[in-house]
Amino acid sequence: MFRNQRHSCLPGMALAFFITTTFGCPVIQGQTPASTTDQAAFADASRRIFSASDSWRFPPGSVVPVAGAAGILSSTDRVASEIGVEILRRGGNAIDAAIATFFALSVVNPEAGNIGGGGFMLVHLADGTSAALDFREKAPFAATRDMFIPGDPAGGPAGGSPDDPSLTGHRSSGVPGSVAGMYAAHQRFGSLPWAELLQPAIHLAEGMVVHERLATSLRSYASRLSRSPATAAIFLPNGQPPRVGDRLTQPDLAATLTRIARSGHDGFYSGETARLIAAEMRRGGGLITERDLAEYQAVWREPIRFEYRDHTVLSMPPISSGGVTLAELLNILEGYDLASMGFHSVRHIHLWTEATRRAYADRNSYLGDPDFVIMPIAEMISDSYAARRRESIDLTRATPSTSVAPGLGPTPDRSALSLGEPENTTHFSVLDRQGNAVALTTTLNSLYGNAITVSGAGFLLNNEMDDFTTRPGEPNQFGLVQGEANSIEPGKRMLSAMTPTIVLDPAGRTKLVTGTPGGATIITTVAQIISNVVDFGMNAADATLAPRLHHQHLPDILYYEVDGLRPEVVEGLRMMGHTLEERTGFSGDTQTILAFPDGSATAVADPRRGGAAVIPGEERQVVQ
Ligand code: DON
Repeated sequence: MFRNQRHSCLPGMALAFFITTTFGCPVIQGQTPASTTDQAAFADASRRIFSASDSWRFPPGSVVPVAGAAGILSSTDRVASEIGVEILRRGGNAIDAAIATFFALSVVNPEAGNIGGGGFMLVHLADGTSAALDFREKAPFAATRDMFIPGDPAGGPAGGSPDDPSLTGHRSSGVPGSVAGMYAAHQRFGSLPWAELLQPAIHLAEGMVVHERLATSLRSYASRLSRSPATAAIFLPNGQPPRVGDRLTQPDLAATLTRIARSGHDGFYSGETARLIAAEMRRGGGLITERDLAEYQAVWREPIRFEYRDHTVLSMPPISSGGVTLAELLNILEGYDLASMGFHSVRHIHLWTEATRRAYADRNSYLGDPDFVIMPIAEMISDSYAARRRESIDLTRATPSTSVAPGLGPTPDRSALSLGEPENTTHFSVLDRQGNAVALTTTLNSLYGNAITVSGAGFLLNNEMDDFTTRPGEPNQFGLVQGEANSIEPGKRMLSAMTPTIVLDPAGRTKLVTGTPGGATIITTVAQIISNVVDFGMNAADATLAPRLHHQHLPDILYYEVDGLRPEVVEGLRMMGHTLEERTGFSGDTQTILAFPDGSATAVADPRRGGAAVIPGEERQVVQ
């Protein structure tokens, strides 16, 4: 068993405990199934049908899902999961739990959890209401289309260099959206008092014990973090990264969270916090002003909704590219009986690759901020368009990506992907006892964002400006060379791949809540989780454990996780004309809940990074 699922006290985990409480070693997970339906899921061993090479790190059955019928929450950090679950236990709903988890992650997971970044929340309530909340960052009003082009008075060194100004330095930050998002979610759906949801995060910021993953991460990125004195003062006390078990205090962050707890949206976007952000920007030559902050609003949007084999998929609309691309990819695949081909057979992978190649060709050309560009979304997510895309698929040969143009009219843009990116977005999934579900993905973009801390306010800033088309024709940090639709304009949001997703069963009940980090691989990872469950009948654990693939049109390479494919499958695909590349590591950090018609549910935190799924009653007493 993997330690994140079974053994929360193994040395590797060492846990991020609060200073306020000393905890024993709880057995949190791997409970007996909560219901007969869960029994069926657990007995799924016979359906553990994914195949991989013998040395695949995460074999089928090697993780047991957490199970329960009174709510469930899975995130990348055990402490954050427990805080969310404590809120559920107190009678909070899924949205309350999500807000508390979000703010907890902003303290315990500074790599990606944030108040200086942005993200997306997808909600599906038991009464059938669904809603998508866009709290993506925006370009400051002073931003210009060519501000990152070398030669432009405001431009700088070429993309990808350590001094790339769209990734490093104050100008790389978009106007943060996270606090506006959490507040808007609370205004619409929250049930517990706002301040109560921030209290656990404030406690953590006042002092927490460093766990192994954070200690390792801070050690690895110490030199980057040392570039900003305010960042170094927090994360490199006495010039050194803290060790496991050390106490980390973040008093400025605690004060900022307290202002937010007291004043809600205004605690961040006006007053002291806004003043500190604007001062930080002036000090470092950044563009965000108090006016940018005062005018920022999160936006409720209609989720992307489409059918996949009698299921309804709800996902994030633009400015996320996730829902639209997911729809096109799965709609193309719906035309094939994948289950009969066998999981990761040559034929299955061939068709999957051809579908994703086509979906990403369209994604990279057409999508941008809906407030600024007109997009052919209805066509892109339609069955008729998928059928047309399918017609061009040769069942026996790979189609070179150079012959796969965007399918809805010519555009000058192409995309390419580099898979060398650090994985540093974060996703969590929540289902409450009433059946309300939240899928939430948030990011600072790069690990620790641009690593600049707002002096006096104690939080890291994003470097999300790099998700725009910063230099036409050149790849961003994910290798994406994107289109004019995604060019920088004042007040515009930058295109994202984050894909929080909820799947409903044929009776319209929530069945799957999922999402992941992973830059451009987010969409393909979410698509594989859905297909693993819907096409191949995998339980939440095996759907998570199964090796992952990625292809996104250009470069014309099918990536697979290390040891993820059997050699004969790799060979078979090569013979069909595919170019394959084995990654050095693993893809994604999914947090997946699989719910059953009787009201029970199972959940699995991806062992690739080691988060935790938790149910109420199993959390330690972490909130005072
Ligand atoms: O919004 C996006 O698509 C990117 N900023 C996400 C970055 C990411 O997932 C990095 N970590 N894996």
